[in-house]
Amino acid sequence: HEYDAFAKALLDWFAAARRPLPWREHYTPYGVWISEIMLQQTQMERGVDYYLRWMERFPDVASVATAPEADLLKAWEGLGYYRRVRNLQAAARVIMEQHDGIFPDLPDAIRALPGIGPYTAGAIASIAFNHDVIAVDGNVERVFSRVFDIDTPVREKTAATRIRMLTARTLPKGRARDFNQALMELGALVCRKKPDCTACPVARFCESLHLGIPHERPVPGRR
Ligand code: ADE
Repeated sequence: HEYDAFAKALLDWFAAARRPLPWREHYTPYGVWISEIMLQQTQMERGVDYYLRWMERFPDVASVATAPEADLLKAWEGLGYYRRVRNLQAAARVIMEQHDGIFPDLPDAIRALPGIGPYTAGAIASIAFNHDVIAVDGNVERVFSRVFDIDTPVREKTAATRIRMLTARTLPKGRARDFNQALMELGALVCRKKPDCTACPVARFCESLHLGIPHERPVPGRR
């Protein structure tokens, strides 16, 4: 597979197609963190509204650490999954107490914060700090299962491990911020459940499209 050409085509597309989202203006670790937690179970458009209001009310880690929990819950109202709010405050306090108020940049330290799993840690490390790490969410799983025609259930270990390996191999050094977001964006805008392959910048690299079966990937199944 032509990994370099694939990455270049994807990055070129993202440079032109990327949506102007508020957390993409400065890429602060705090802003990227809040946006990733909000987007976990929320549509992009609603997420943007909540994000802008949250950032006005709680502009930094310290403000989250010291806020009355009721105020945080109020700002979160309507997003659901309120355990995320408690984890946000717990993580903000860890950052204040164990990291001198400075958001940690190493993937393992980010991963150790409450409420942050492997995807979110990879997303923050790459999008906020441009570290060369992968961030595999459902979008990225769908894109890779099609491009590499992965024929085992995507939620089983064999496929998940293969996808992580392929993502790491494809990621161009020094470009993780844009590359990871380009994959997410491709999954959100083009390589959707019902894919729009005529609009796809990496169609020529897509094994399942060449076989005529992109709609049969990813293979569903339990984790
Ligand atoms: N979904 C979660 N994080 C995202 C991001 N940074 N860009 C696009 N979609 C996303």
